[in-house]
Amino acid sequence: MTQTADATIIDPAARIGSNANGPNSGEVIVTDNLWKTYVMGDQQVHALRGVDLRIRRNEYVAIMGPSGSGKSTLMNLIGCLDSPSYGRYWLNEHDVSQLDDDQLARIRNKEIGFVFQTFNLLARATSLHNVELPLIYNGTPAAERIERAKEVLTQVGLESRMDHKPNELSGGQRQRVAIARALVNRPSIILADEPTGNLDSKTSVEIMALFDDLHAKGNTIVLVTHEPDIAEFAHRVISIRDGSVASDHPSSRARG
Ligand SMILES: Nc1ncnc2c1ncn2[C@@H]1O[C@H](COP(=O)(O)OP(=O)(O)OP(=O)(O)O)[C@@H](O)[C@H]1O
Ligand SMILES: [Mg+2]
Repeated sequence: MTQTADATIIDPAARIGSNANGPNSGEVIVTDNLWKTYVMGDQQVHALRGVDLRIRRNEYVAIMGPSGSGKSTLMNLIGCLDSPSYGRYWLNEHDVSQLDDDQLARIRNKEIGFVFQTFNLLARATSLHNVELPLIYNGTPAAERIERAKEVLTQVGLESRMDHKPNELSGGQRQRVAIARALVNRPSIILADEPTGNLDSKTSVEIMALFDDLHAKGNTIVLVTHEPDIAEFAHRVISIRDGSVASDHPSSRARG
């Protein structure tokens, strides 16, 4: 990206998004001219430069693109972990682009399950306790918490590892705990930022089989990956370059 290119599109309002009319029925993630600019001293980093996106309920989408192209920034906005600098975002047909941090946290807790490359588990807590945590934050009574945590840990195949701490688990098992934690609030949308980035290829395929299950159960799945093989598990592949969508097409799996 050259300095001249930066200067020519520096004003977000100069770009017209293609989704200004907002979501159609069944579209759970819709963005219109979404920008994210990080300010570092007197420097501005335009991490997203006008993203127009439409994702329908129960789609299975992979996001690819070079390092630094804005994938995680986009995931953080979609996942209500951060707010855009400009543009609009409708989640489940509600405009969430203007909400404050508390309102975003409440929506995130209810609608979104987030899975990270580095698992982000509490090191001193058991699998069961790690999975229970989101339910503690939203005030679910203890008995129901434990029951639901056990249920999702069983769903990811870890019924025999509930009392293990992260350092007593394999990488794939840790990611299963993280997926169980993402599921425990019964979100309809699962966002995963390089969920297999720290796993070997055999374990990656096992984790992807789990995402396949979730997709088959009706969840909407958006995952970031660097690996073309992993992207092929999805049905649609979106490529991001320099903060905007460079291509958007069905995966070969979806083409059959
Ligand atoms: N908190 C931040 N403050 C300032 N700049 C940031 C911040 N987060 C990201 N950036 C910058 O924004 C751009 C996009 O970063 P992002 O993390 O979204 O890239 P990515 O596509 O996820 O890359 P990777 O594949 O390496 O994870 C990069 O140039 C990065 O340096
Ligand atoms: Mg990233």
